[in-house]
Amino acid sequence: MGVGKRPNHLISPAVLVIMAWQQGGKFLARADYTKPDFYARKAKERGFAARSVFKLEELDRKEKLLRRGARVLDLGAAPGSWMQYAAGQVGDKGLVVGVDLKELSRPLQPNERFLQADVFELSGEELLSRFGVFDLVQSDLAPATMGDKATDHFRSIALAERALALARRLLRPGGHFLVKAFQGADFDAFARSVRGSFRTVKLKKPKGSRATSPEMYILGREFQRIEEEDDA
Ligand SMILES: C[S@@+](CC[C@H](N)C(=O)[O-])C[C@H]1O[C@@H](n2cnc3c(N)ncnc32)[C@H](O)[C@@H]1O
Repeated sequence: MGVGKRPNHLISPAVLVIMAWQQGGKFLARADYTKPDFYARKAKERGFAARSVFKLEELDRKEKLLRRGARVLDLGAAPGSWMQYAAGQVGDKGLVVGVDLKELSRPLQPNERFLQADVFELSGEELLSRFGVFDLVQSDLAPATMGDKATDHFRSIALAERALALARRLLRPGGHFLVKAFQGADFDAFARSVRGSFRTVKLKKPKGSRATSPEMYILGREFQRIEEEDDA
């Protein structure tokens, strides 16, 4: 078996360092995704569907996003850890509506709803007539990555823009918007367009987000409705 095919734990630390150096850091970035890390193990222990939950938990603890009784739209919801956490925080009187191309990996709680759909095909009007307005729109939407940084970035921005259009249609005035986007050429322009609809905007990189990931979260607080932008 060549060194390239060998599982990482069978390669000596010295060889790993040389391989990382030879490949400009790309090797370590790949290795990072091959073994369950601290957050993946912790998610399993606490019964959450994915390690992503710790990003939302950290952001929620710092920013107080999820209040008892709140109504939350969760875009890019599968396998379901953000919904699971949010449903616990909003409680029996709250509601969490998830949307994803894929099915959830777990049964729904009474305060959860799920739509298996493409966010580009789902109309804001339909969501509005079924569920009414939301206090928080959270989007962890991510494209299936192709390995080409620029393509992944532009597809992530397209998803983030779609989430913003839906948030503008569905948030109550004063509501909040949390969205993931991959950093790259169009990131700043997207962050500026979020600024156009919210009183304050912050960029957040929670600890649970891998250092090698291009993802960044944008948090817009206190939605200010601009009628001509309700285009979803
Ligand atoms: C990082 S995962 C979300 C993880 C989720 N927050 C959790 O905690 O379990 C990103 C999700 O975005 C979904 N997605 C990507 N493109 C989509 C689209 N056009 N419409 C709906 N969902 C989409 C993927 O199917 C994937 O499940």
